[in-house]
Amino acid sequence: MSKLPEQVSFTFVEQAAAIATEAGALLRDFYAKGVETEYKSEVDLVTVADRTSEKLILDRISAQFPTHGIYGEEGTRHHIDREYRWYVDPLDGTTNFAHGFPQFCVSLGLEHRPAGTAPDADGTLVAGVIYDPLRDDLFVAERGLGAYLNGKRLHVSTNPTLGKSLLATGFPSRARHENPNIHLYHEITLRSHGVRRAGSAALDLAYTAAGRLDAYWEFNLNPWDTAAGALLVLEAGGSMTGFDGSPFLLNSREVVATNGLLKEELLGVFADIFAGRNLTPLRSAVESRLGVAAAKV
Ligand code: IPD
Ligand code: CA
Ligand code: CA
Repeated sequence: MSKLPEQVSFTFVEQAAAIATEAGALLRDFYAKGVETEYKSEVDLVTVADRTSEKLILDRISAQFPTHGIYGEEGTRHHIDREYRWYVDPLDGTTNFAHGFPQFCVSLGLEHRPAGTAPDADGTLVAGVIYDPLRDDLFVAERGLGAYLNGKRLHVSTNPTLGKSLLATGFPSRARHENPNIHLYHEITLRSHGVRRAGSAALDLAYTAAGRLDAYWEFNLNPWDTAAGALLVLEAGGSMTGFDGSPFLLNSREVVATNGLLKEELLGVFADIFAGRNLTPLRSAVESRLGVAAAKV
């Protein structure tokens, strides 16, 4: 059975979906066998599966879209001055993959950069495909044609309040102590139904598009993490901004994705946290343990 909607005439998605599905099958095989883990830096992992998947995607995209450029996480820089540029994350969720935690995917996002686009300016996101090989979930979007999961149209959630929402975030694998996110994580956890930290930015965005999450935020991301998922969220009716509410940019490295209804409230809470206003007091671990000990006497 096809995992794409029958009535929609895509320009890029069909081929990209076939490529992502093939790369995902390859990841599934490596995952079943188990792979050695290598280190890019102290806690930034990479495996043979990441590299083999990127090579397969490079071969397939360059054969099927010979005029397009490709920018991949594992080092591919293929004709990146071309009008169309694919951002490739051959395995998003490598830490999960390496530990046997079943949450990872392939992410392919296509940007259109017409002649005259300044080198540091964004083009337009035109297509995105995210494939989760363990669940066989195929998320696709093409500009103006909507977002879909396994052929079914996607819409963001309709939840209007932070207090009743489920959110997600992530933490970078480098320079974690410089990242302010633990403060946001703490505050939003206390004000919502919860904050998931599942370890795949692309799936976090896809889940926001699908209404499985009401919002997602993260710092220090790269275009290969976000390109496909950003288009999914927008085509499903959600909002994509930075922390200051300005429109999301591929190179801005930060993402706040919401169902649209939560955007103002969430950005307001973030602004308060950054300004140190209205924070929820948290007992220290020492105070908590003393409280438990006192209750036992
Ligand atoms: C990582 C994942 C993770 C996010 C990290 C990313 P990788 O990508 O998306 O969820 O928190 O910031 O680097 O390294 O597994 O492709
Ligand atoms: Ca990634
Ligand atoms: Ca990756």
